[in-house]
Amino acid sequence: MIRTFVKLIGTPERRARAELEDQIRQIDKRYFDRTSPPVDLRGRAYVWGVFADRVVGPVLVGYGILRWNGEVAHLERSAVEREYRGRGIQRQLIRARLRMAQKLGAKRVLTYTHRNNWPSANNLIGLGFRLRRYQAKEFIHFEFVLRRKT
Ligand SMILES: CC(C)(COP(=O)(O)OP(=O)(O)OC[C@H]1O[C@@H](n2cnc3c(N)ncnc32)[C@H](O)[C@@H]1OP(=O)(O)O)[C@@H](O)C(=O)NCCC(=O)NCCS
Repeated sequence: MIRTFVKLIGTPERRARAELEDQIRQIDKRYFDRTSPPVDLRGRAYVWGVFADRVVGPVLVGYGILRWNGEVAHLERSAVEREYRGRGIQRQLIRARLRMAQKLGAKRVLTYTHRNNWPSANNLIGLGFRLRRYQAKEFIHFEFVLRRKT
């Protein structure tokens, strides 16, 4: 089995933003329809990459974005290439972002999923997110309240 690993690949300040956006768009075009806005890493965004070790070297096969706005952090979209799904990669990406949100001093983490996206919804609930708002039309909103370190 091909080994995969998750690592923080940077903030837009640390790495050429356009290059990172381009890699993510290569993945997105396979899994998001054209009505989804293209990824935009301006502002306070942190990006985790999922890499698979291939002969050519590590290849990006998934990603997750955290956007931080002072007290509130947002899990922005994530995607995992189809052949790597179902082995806990998204769960790792959510955990990594929760840890960072805690480190940044955020009080809450918000996110939402499409109502048909049961793998994401199950992962969020499994990791302790609570339902926050349900828009019957399309999206389910979730919230995670971070505890202060004692
Ligand atoms: C949603 C998505 C990121 C999940 O990634 P993933 O790495 O496969 O997720 P995980 O393996 O952490 O968890 C998926 C859960 O669904 C289960 N599952 C069952 N069949 C599955 C399948 N065919 N594919 C994926 N997950 C499946 C997994 O077993 C796991 O649950 P479990 O822990 O109880 O076993 C991925 O499906 C994806 O990229 N989808 C398209 C883009 C998208 O919808 N992004 C998220 C919206 S912002």
